[in-house]
Formats: sequence, C-alpha cells, structure tokens
Amino acid sequence: MPFSLPELPYPYDALAPYMSCETLEFHHDKHHLAYVNNSNNLMKGTEFEGRPVEDVAKSSFFGNPGLFNNAGQHYNHIHFWKWMKPGGGGGMPDKIEKQIIADLGSVAKMKEDFIAAGVTQFGSGWCWLAVKFGRIEVMKTANGESPLVQGAWPILGCDVWEHAYYIDYRNRRADYLKAFVDNLVNWEYVSEMFAAATK
Ligand SMILES: [Fe+2]
Repeated sequence: MPFSLPELPYPYDALAPYMSCETLEFHHDKHHLAYVNNSNNLMKGTEFEGRPVEDVAKSSFFGNPGLFNNAGQHYNHIHFWKWMKPGGGGGMPDKIEKQIIADLGSVAKMKEDFIAAGVTQFGSGWCWLAVKFGRIEVMKTANGESPLVQGAWPILGCDVWEHAYYIDYRNRRADYLKAFVDNLVNWEYVSEMFAAATK
C-alpha cells in the first residue's frame, strides 16, 4: 500500500486562535501531502515499497536521503496532527506526569526545556520528548529527522519549520512553542505513545 494523507482529527478551524485554519490548510493539505506524494514516487520499484512508514523513516536514513527527508516528514506529521487537540495543553495522565517529574525534574521544567530545544533548533526541524533506555528526554533534530534515527521513541514532537508557524506568528517561534505547550498538546495521545514505547 502506498502512503496516504491522513485526515486531520479535528476541523481546520478547531485549533484557532493558537493555530489558524489557514496554517492547517497549507501545512496539512500542501506540505504534508507533498511529503506523501514524494515518498510514494521515490519508493516506487525499490526495496522500500509496501513497507510501513516507521520502518521506511528509519531504514532510509542511511543511504537514501531523498526518500528519508520525505518519509521522515510523513511519519512526523502523522503524529503531529494527533499531538494537538482543541482545548489541549492542560493536565496529563498520572503515569506520564510521574515519569516526567522523575526524569526531567518537574512539568514546568519539562515545558521550559522543550520550548528551549525548539527555539535553539537552528533552521528547520523539530523538538521532542522521546523515550531512550526507558527514560524521557528532551531532544531536537534537524529537517525531517526524528528520535527514531537516534534509537529513541518519540512521544511528543513540535514542528518548528517556518511553514508550521509563520502565517500565525511570523518570526516569533518562541510564542508559537509556548502556545503549543500551553494550549494545544494532546497529553492523552502523548501518554498512549509513552505506553507503547515502554511496554
Ligand atoms: Fe511541517
């Protein structure tokens, strides 16, 4: 099966005012779609055809940068839409909150470090919470990379490519990251990914 563009799990205007309808239309319908189409074209007739996105996003990292950039971004965006929800950013399930406090000091410190990772990612990329050796870490990666290629499991990621925030925030990346953390994060989905990464 070729890759396909998933539907957004909420209406296009559901994340306003923190992320506008216009941003989601461009980001999902144009940028994410391009990653899907480019991946499918680049996989055609290769060993990667028919393999799951997570597998392609990891195994193309060494040796096939064209495919990796697109398949990596497809993987990242599939989850990015689900890492947000209308009215997000509030409390989180107990189990993941306890683990965040144990590994990163406090919820406030985790938020501060996550935002700092996004702000200091030079150029395009992502900031993350990821599970490595059973512990939650804050990470950042360039372009289409994710913690998968560093032997870690992403459980939360924020897209800091300009296409993710320039319509709404212009050059104010820090304001975008703060709005993401405080008002958009779907902690139930983060918790699901945490459970899958640690089982
Ligand atoms: Fe993006």
